Parts: sequence; C-alpha cells; structure tokens
Amino acid sequence: MSTSLIYRSGTVYEVLMRGLYGRHYDGRFQPISALIPAGASVVDVCCGPATLFTKHLQEKSVDYRGLDLNEGFIADLTRAGGRGEVWNVHADDPLPAADYLIMQASLYHFLPDPEAVVGRMLAAARTKVIIAEPIRNLATSDNRVLATIGRRFTNAGDGAQEARFTEPSLDAFFRGFGSRVSYRALIAGGREKLYVLDV
Ligand SMILES: C[S@@+](CC[C@H](N)C(=O)[O-])C[C@H]1O[C@@H](n2cnc3c(N)ncnc32)[C@H](O)[C@@H]1O
Repeated sequence: MSTSLIYRSGTVYEVLMRGLYGRHYDGRFQPISALIPAGASVVDVCCGPATLFTKHLQEKSVDYRGLDLNEGFIADLTRAGGRGEVWNVHADDPLPAADYLIMQASLYHFLPDPEAVVGRMLAAARTKVIIAEPIRNLATSDNRVLATIGRRFTNAGDGAQEARFTEPSLDAFFRGFGSRVSYRALIAGGREKLYVLDV
C-alpha cells in the first residue's frame, strides 16, 4: 500500500495543511503547547512532521518523543534535533510512558475502533492524555471533489481511511470516558476539538 501524496514529505504535508487551515494553522498547536509545562515528558502519537515539537515544545525544553508510521517524518524530526521512532500504533504493543500522551489529527486513522488506542494512551500517561481531532474536513465535505481528495490523500501507508469525525460523533465518543474528560475546547478556528483526559 503506497503512502499518499499528503504524507510523502514534511514539506508537502505542511503546505497542504496550511492551505486547509489557512490563518488558523498555527492555532492548532498553541493551545496544546500551553497545556504542557516546561520540562515535562511527552509522547506524541502519530506525530507527523512534529511541528508541535519544532515550533513550540522544543523551546520549552520538553522531553519529546514522536511516534509515526512514516519513516520520512521521523527522519525529519531526528534531523531537527528531536527524538522519534517509526512505530505502527495499530499494533497492540504498549505505548512508551510519559507525563503527557498526545495525539493530534490522527484519531480517525483508528476508526471504527478508536477506544483501543485511547486506552493504551491512558495506560502510558502519568499525568494527562491530550487529543485534538478535526471536526470539519475535506473527507466529509458535501463537495464530492473535495471529499475524494480528502479521502485519497490521507492514506498513511496502512490502507485508505475514509471515515472522519464530526463534532457530535467526537463528543459522543469522549462521553464514553465520563469524568475523565477534564477539559474540552474548539481550537484552530473551530476546525479541531481538543479534549484533555485525566489518568
Ligand atoms: C493528519 S497527520 C497528523 C500529524 C500531526 N499529528 C499533526 O497534527 O500535524 C496523521 C499522521 O498519522 C500517521 N499515522 C497514520 N496511521 C498510523 C499508524 N497506524 N501508526 C503510526 N502513525 C500513523 C500518519 O503517518 C500521519 O503522520
């Protein structure tokens, strides 16, 4: 299964994501960074090109470790001075322990059974799990051309993923974690929703 265009390189990914999010692109990362204290340890699950680290967490001396299926993204992260590992999160292995386990814009890759990966994140986190997920995206657009682009271009190399969350379906999913959800907020101009889970 070949990796689709958007995941071919960190540069292509950033250009396409900036196009999608417009002026709200940088607003994806700041609210997450604000929740992480200096010196904390972080495991970023499905880190992609690790912009959260290179643009925000690196300067806070956070002990960061990024995991992603994509070798190119991990190579970029290593070159940028971060720690990363090629890791298939679909495998049942326990995730590495850290104060904060983070996942951004990647929960849809685990549909139709996202509970399992969130459970493994909770098991690995010493303090909190932070998940931000798109609730408005190309793949669920009413425009068929945009929807096809959104679905086809986000194959991470482990198969095409067509389903996406909406705000009601994401809220319904996190209601299953009850009082563990201590904070929720719209970020990036309402394009993503952020949830903080206590361990
Ligand atoms: C939309 S990107 C999000 C990247 C980054 N977290 C961000 O918000 O910019 C989704 C990422 O999930 C990764 N991914 C998808 N399936 C994966 C899996 N089974 N194991 C590890 N990474 C995976 C892809 O390679 C891609 O980098």
